[in-house]
Amino acid sequence: MSNLSKTELIHMFKGIPFTTRSSPELLNSLDSFDAREDDVLLVSYPKSGTHWLAGVITKLYSTQVTLTSPIEFGDISRLEELNKLSSKRIIPTHLAYNMLPPNFKNKKCKMIYIIRNPKDTAVSMYHYYRDNPNLPTVDTWTAFFDLFMKGDVVCGSWFDHFLSWEEHGNEKNILFLFYEDMKKDLSKIVKDISLFLDLYVSDNDIQDICKKSSFSEMKNDTEKENTDPNHTVCSLTSNRKLIFRKGAVGDWKNHFTPKQNRRFEEIFNEKMKLSKM
Ligand code: A3P
Repeated sequence: MSNLSKTELIHMFKGIPFTTRSSPELLNSLDSFDAREDDVLLVSYPKSGTHWLAGVITKLYSTQVTLTSPIEFGDISRLEELNKLSSKRIIPTHLAYNMLPPNFKNKKCKMIYIIRNPKDTAVSMYHYYRDNPNLPTVDTWTAFFDLFMKGDVVCGSWFDHFLSWEEHGNEKNILFLFYEDMKKDLSKIVKDISLFLDLYVSDNDIQDICKKSSFSEMKNDTEKENTDPNHTVCSLTSNRKLIFRKGAVGDWKNHFTPKQNRRFEEIFNEKMKLSKM
């Protein structure tokens, strides 16, 4: 919960709410960012399982890779720092497709988009708003639900974000993954990711990666500070301890009232009528 007001924490850029942790100068300069052919982008709407996916992907490489902080995080000097990195870069981002630096698209960089049931995403984001001092205060779930449905939250509307990426679903350099599929059969998804990234990973290694990427292992690592607690792949916090809350499918059922569920379904069906999801 923050002591600062919404106007001190949030600014609008091209109609999307960003936290002040993403400076307007940086956002304005993204279009000129120099991508490299071997960059891998890890794309998500906040609270969709970005850290989980990042944990899996970094374990797949036997060569040196750098998991950077999100491309939209920080001030303008960040872009220079990213340019200086000599190793292969895994770059997270919460940007919608149209805001992505065009160079990533022109160079056909590999991109992995992780999607989560938006009802669970909304609930996860609600708790994040409550715990994260970089986000405005929300008093109740009811108030947050309204903001989420209007897209009046950081990174804007879940629907717009997803649809901006889904439009490019047929492009061979973009892989779509579901959080729920990772929960159901992580080893299958790890295999799919390794094939997409052209990495050979043995079945034993896949089992090992799955074990090390379980919710409890990742949460423990963060609590024991076996991983850098200041390194997150979310532009909204640097505190990893805020990330690992429950890690469950279906927590929305503990929050949504029947009326909210009906309203969600109506809006979902309307907004997603052209979607294949
Ligand atoms: P909850 O708040 O529902 O627990 P992001 O990394 O995009 O910020 O997403 C955070 C959400 O992913 C949180 O959801 C977090 O608990 C969940 N998560 C993180 N690591 C996970 C893991 N290893 N397995 C399952 N869920 C995980």
